[in-house]
Amino acid sequence: MADSVGVGLLGLGVVGGGVARTLREKAETIARRVGREVELRGVLVRDPARERELPGLRVTTDPAAVLEDPSVQIVVEVMGGDQPAHQYIRRAIAAGKHVVTANKEVMAKHGPEIVAAAARRGVDVAYEASVGGGIPVIGPFKLDLLANDISQVTAIINGTTNYIITRMSQAGLDFESALREAQEAGYAEADPRNDVEGIDAAYKLAILATLAFHARVHPDDVHREGITTLEPSDFRYARELGYVVKLLAIAKVIEGGLELRVHPAFVPEHSMLANVDGVFNAVQVEGDLVGRILLYGRGAGAGPTSSAVVADVIDLAQRIEAGSVRPVVAYDGRLRPRSMADTRCRYYLRLVAADRPGVIARVAGLLGEREISLASVLQKEDIQVSEGDRYAEIVFMTHRAHEAAVQTALDEIRRLAVVARIGSVIRVED
Ligand SMILES: NC(=O)c1ccc[n+]([C@@H]2O[C@H](COP(=O)([O-])OP(=O)(O)OC[C@H]3O[C@@H](n4cnc5c(N)ncnc54)[C@H](OP(=O)(O)O)[C@@H]3O)[C@@H](O)[C@H]2O)c1
Repeated sequence: MADSVGVGLLGLGVVGGGVARTLREKAETIARRVGREVELRGVLVRDPARERELPGLRVTTDPAAVLEDPSVQIVVEVMGGDQPAHQYIRRAIAAGKHVVTANKEVMAKHGPEIVAAAARRGVDVAYEASVGGGIPVIGPFKLDLLANDISQVTAIINGTTNYIITRMSQAGLDFESALREAQEAGYAEADPRNDVEGIDAAYKLAILATLAFHARVHPDDVHREGITTLEPSDFRYARELGYVVKLLAIAKVIEGGLELRVHPAFVPEHSMLANVDGVFNAVQVEGDLVGRILLYGRGAGAGPTSSAVVADVIDLAQRIEAGSVRPVVAYDGRLRPRSMADTRCRYYLRLVAADRPGVIARVAGLLGEREISLASVLQKEDIQVSEGDRYAEIVFMTHRAHEAAVQTALDEIRRLAVVARIGSVIRVED
């Protein structure tokens, strides 16, 4: 067998530990698939004193010991965060190394520049694990779906929020209790902001949209709303109306532009996405040739994520062995992000208002003035009593309406003296 392919690892946490274990335990299989041995040469960590599960690894705190090691051909970045991970990836490329990364934040914010720098240096960057953990999603966009004009990508790509939402929906928990449960089960971080505010999902959507539409999509182009304001009653009403609530990441072509949004949505209860529960992820793609497909599986965890990272390592090692580097993704710049204000969809509005005659008519009147017509109205009485005033929860389902008009109408409704508060505004994705 020829010389082995050297791998350097940046990070030895959940994913890094899984990758190191897989490279060791599957060394023979990998060598058979590549035609050479693939050997882990060095591992960068932050804390050298921390006890590690895997004995015998060459652990260092000096990035140059991995990034500039001449015996390393593939650098695997599994540290996370923007810096210094981004800087290390650029240093690895500058040193002529291929890169594998699971880092959605870096690829979402700097992916096109990184890929261009790699192409100039004659190396490749692989990032299958950055979206959907073990589910093959990057590969299909880079290869299998290339003949399609893709019209829409709709995804559930954050396992933490999908777990919380599933518990709120199926066990009637409130957000705080479901979050606590997710933290105790190890599905949510102590600081859950990135997940529950939709930041992680927006990173992943930016990566998917860049690939699917050959466009340069930055996370700032994605309209983003999290799940922290959802209440148990939203899940009850959704069920009553034949829907399930999900945090969706949507990228779709509309009138020559790209609609990009992450927000809670009502999805029909019998749809494929409505049945993606717990920590599972799914990416639904609509292509002109292939029709609708669904990529489904585990979006996180040491095993599934190592599956994607090590596959990228094997693929690169095979191409090193074959002496060929795959061309980079081409951006054609035809599709540009649209403003959220131009979106049109159906809405579910839940208000808490005084239980008096004429309230529904006043709200409906304000909506009507903005050309927002109603599909249905539900009223639940006596949800709250304050100093003799009786309040009711009123749910409006609209027909398709213009986002800008809905936001203006909501400002006006909020100012009505009879309206105590607007409980929720959730878009309906039929
Ligand atoms: N966890 C998942 O299921 C999953 C799924 C898909 C993608 N990802 C992505 O994979 C990446 C890694 O996630 P993870 O869950 O494995 O993270 P993690 O458990 O927190 O591990 C991070 C590792 O990186 C090392 N590290 C962090 N900052 C460093 C620095 N400045 N210098 C040197 N070493 C540093 C840490 O060193 P110490 O060990 O010394 O602290 C640790 O070994 C992230 O980009 C994440 O988004 C994770």
